[in-house]
Amino acid sequence: MDAISRGQGASTGDAAEMDTQTTDYAGGKMLADIDDGIGLVTFNQPKKHNAMSIEMWQGLEQILVEFESDDRVRVLVLTGAGNRAFVSGADISQFEQNRSEAEARAEYDRLTLAGRQRLSAFPKPVIARIRGYCLGGGLAIAMQADIRIAATDSAFGIPAAKLGIAYGFDMVESLVSLVGPAHARHLLYSGERIDATEAARVGLVNRVVPDEDLSDVVVDLARAIADNAPLSLRASKLEVTQALKPPADRDQAAIRAAVEGAFASEDYREGRTAFMEKRAPKFKGK
Ligand code: COA
Repeated sequence: MDAISRGQGASTGDAAEMDTQTTDYAGGKMLADIDDGIGLVTFNQPKKHNAMSIEMWQGLEQILVEFESDDRVRVLVLTGAGNRAFVSGADISQFEQNRSEAEARAEYDRLTLAGRQRLSAFPKPVIARIRGYCLGGGLAIAMQADIRIAATDSAFGIPAAKLGIAYGFDMVESLVSLVGPAHARHLLYSGERIDATEAARVGLVNRVVPDEDLSDVVVDLARAIADNAPLSLRASKLEVTQALKPPADRDQAAIRAAVEGAFASEDYREGRTAFMEKRAPKFKGK
C-alpha cells in the first residue's frame, strides 16, 4: 500500500503510487484510501504539521462513518502526511474564533469529543502510524487507536499547560489508562516532549521502528490483521474495551453475543477446515 508512505508536502497528488482511488474530505485536508482490506486515513495539512482544524474533525467523522459500514475495510490505519508530523495538535490559529467564547468553545469541545468517541468506538482494529510530532490533540487521536507504531524520530507531548488550556477529561482518561497516573502527571504538568523510546517505555506506543521501516511494519501488521476473521477481531475489540470499564458497567450481553457470533460463523468452519487442509483460511466476516 504505497499511499501509506505518502511523501513530504502530501496532497492527493502524492497518492499517485496508490493503486486505489483517494477520496478527499475537508477540502483535501483529510484523505481516505482503501486497499486490500486496509482503510487508510491521512491527516493532510503538512504546512501546519497536520494540525487538526474543525473541518478536519468533520472530515474524519465522515470517513469513519463510511469505513465502518464498508466491508472492504477490515482494519483502519491513521497517518499524517509528510514525514514531519502525525498531528501537531489542534489548529491553534482557530482558537481565537472557536475556543475563547464559552458558547463557541462548548460547540468545539462537543465536535472534537464526538470525533474521538467515534474513533474509540470504531468496531474494527485501528493502528496509528506515527512519524514526527504527535502532540496535544494529535496524541489524543493516536491514543484512540488500538495499536500505536512509532518511527524513531517521533516526538510526543501535551503542551496544554504551555497554552493555558486544559486537556479534556476523556483525553486524560485515555492517557492514564495507557501510561498510569505518574507518567500522565509528568506529561501534563511539564508539557515536555518525549522521544519514541521514552514513549514506548511508558506505554504510550506499542513499538518503535527505524524511520525507513515504518511503512512496511505498519502495512505488514495491518495486512496480518485484515487476513484474520473479522468477527473474532470485533469480539476481541469489544472485550478489551469492556475490560477497561468498571465491572458494573460492562455489557455482558454484548460480550456474549460477540463471542457466540464468532463461534456460530461460517468463518469458524472455514478456520477449522483450512487448518486441517494446511492452507491459509479465507474469511468473509460472516
Ligand atoms: N496549530 C496551528 N499551526 C501550527 C500548529 C498547530 N498546532 N503546529 C504547527 N503549526 C504551524 C506553525 O505555526 C508554522 O506556521 P507558519 O509556517 O505559518 O509559521 C508551521 O506550522 C510550521 O511550524 P513551525 O513551528 O515553524 O515548525 P517547527 O518544526 O519549528 O516546530 C512544532 C514544530 C510542532 C514543535 C511547533 O509548531 C509547535 O509547537 N506547534 C504547536 C504544538 C501545540 O501546541 N499543539 C497543541 C495544540 S492543543
